[in-house]
Amino acid sequence: MKTFRKALVTGASSGLGRAICKELAARGTEVVACARRADLLGDLVRELEAAGATASAVPLDVTSPDAVREAVASAAADGPLDLVLAGAGVAEHSVEAPDRATRTLRLLDVNLGGAVTTVEAGIDAMAQSGGTVGVLSSLAGTRGLPGAAAYCASKAAISTYLEARQIELAGRPVRLVDVQPGFVKTPMTAPNRFPMPFLMDVEDAARRTVEGLAAGRSVVTYPRRLGWPLRVVARVAPRGLWRRLLAQEAQRGNGGPAEG
Ligand SMILES: NC(=O)c1ccc[n+]([C@@H]2O[C@H](COP(=O)([O-])OP(=O)(O)OC[C@H]3O[C@@H](n4cnc5c(N)ncnc54)[C@H](OP(=O)(O)O)[C@@H]3O)[C@@H](O)[C@H]2O)c1
Repeated sequence: MKTFRKALVTGASSGLGRAICKELAARGTEVVACARRADLLGDLVRELEAAGATASAVPLDVTSPDAVREAVASAAADGPLDLVLAGAGVAEHSVEAPDRATRTLRLLDVNLGGAVTTVEAGIDAMAQSGGTVGVLSSLAGTRGLPGAAAYCASKAAISTYLEARQIELAGRPVRLVDVQPGFVKTPMTAPNRFPMPFLMDVEDAARRTVEGLAAGRSVVTYPRRLGWPLRVVARVAPRGLWRRLLAQEAQRGNGGPAEG
């Protein structure tokens, strides 16, 4: 299986991004960890270095395109990158709060805008040397779920973007990987009060992510027992049936999957 030499990961201060940094470092990859909370990145870098890895922290807000481009370009200038992973993301936990439109645009700015900027910076940085650009999208992008309209839309949009870009990049040395996890135990899902089928440990999810990136598959979904039935049902269920099924769930108080 492929081993990455040097990876830049956004969303590295917490949850899945943090666990992926640890998984990569354990496999010998040099890690450039990016997120806004510099204190948490510092803790991570110290932990990785104590285990013998090479790591650095770059405080970064992915909603600033210039900052993203600068972070990726300077990490690559320091020694060629062969993996860029757009892991930064936010969920919606209070759909009833006022000004939903503004909150939706803010979420799209991170989950879609930040991911697109990171993807394009990664493609540019590795255009000659080659490499892998991955995104943590979600199985939630498969269909619209009540309580998570903005989140589902952001993940569907980035998956569709990646699908198109994969075709455009055919024959070039950069591979794009769309990672679509189900429910993973992280600070993002901790507030959820509805059933989360097949909830996974973050270490398991990180391992499957890194294995999928190394295999260079165009789409990586896990867990399979949630991924494939969801994709089959989502593909064949007409919109009216989908709406009735999910409306019943929402009325029972199970609407509002902020994640998955
Ligand atoms: N947990 C799940 O069940 C699940 C399932 C499918 C997909 N995902 C996706 O996996 C990714 C990681 O989620 P998680 O569950 O690990 O959540 P998490 O623990 O809340 O981590 C989110 C990460 O994103 C970073 N982030 C948020 N806004 C940012 C911004 N503007 N600029 C830079 N970094 C930002 C956070 O860092 P700072 O706050 O320090 O900036 C944090 O490191 C997300 O894209 C999420 O949508 C998660």
